[in-house]
Amino acid sequence: MSAEPLRQRQAGIRIRIAFIVATLAGAAFAVCYAVDAGEQALGLTIALAFGSIAYGLGAWARLLLPTGGYVQSREPSLRRPREESLLIQEFTEEPSPVNRRSLLGLLGLAGTTIGAALLFPLRSLYPPGQPAPLTELRQTPWRFGPRLVTTDGQPVRPTMVTTEATLTVLPEGNLEAGDAPAFVVRVPGPGQDGGTIHAYSLLCTHAGCPVALYESTTARVLCPCHQSVFDLRDAAKPIAGPAARPLPALPIAVDADGFLRATGDFTSPPGPGFWGR
Ligand code: FES
Repeated sequence: MSAEPLRQRQAGIRIRIAFIVATLAGAAFAVCYAVDAGEQALGLTIALAFGSIAYGLGAWARLLLPTGGYVQSREPSLRRPREESLLIQEFTEEPSPVNRRSLLGLLGLAGTTIGAALLFPLRSLYPPGQPAPLTELRQTPWRFGPRLVTTDGQPVRPTMVTTEATLTVLPEGNLEAGDAPAFVVRVPGPGQDGGTIHAYSLLCTHAGCPVALYESTTARVLCPCHQSVFDLRDAAKPIAGPAARPLPALPIAVDADGFLRATGDFTSPPGPGFWGR
């Protein structure tokens, strides 16, 4: 065998090996993801897969594909020795020892394996056993049952709630949840002695600051960040400032032991968010 076919045959073997390695590395990436083998294993396998594909394609283009000699200018049909010799060469040279169809098949297999492996991380968007991300964003630790407790964990009784100031409350057992802070306050109504207890999310619906300032004479809470004002006599609707949504209400009741308990989640997702736009 002459030197050129031998060189092409060796190149074909190298390219095949590269595509097979890419296929195996793509499958290994999927396996590593499935068994949670860690970021390093994932990075190594996917890098090997893409690196092998890149090597195979590069070697194919450099060593097997024809180069040059095919520019044809439109001239009078004269005899051109260069084209004539290429034509003769085309008809007389030995066929390539490399089966390009098998190379294409291996390349397709490697590409399919890697493409399928790259679909696996989509599973991370919906981790098994956990609520879907959108559902999780819409839920807070409040539900039917938790007692309302102060920031130092003390259960709240109705007698602790006054008309003078708001009292920050959290769900018992979930003092750290960022979307759970709420406040209770007693809002006097027309003809009502002592007023009724209202509970709302503490997070401003504009940008999430605590609505910390309470004006007892008007029953309005003010957000100090951009001066949104919410009217607790009108379902905590915003009456000034940039906030566009009312403060979400927290349904509450007094239990048999005389403590305030939540009877459900906020009436809408607390704080700012895409759901309000
Ligand atoms: S965060 Fe409350 S008004 Fe902007």
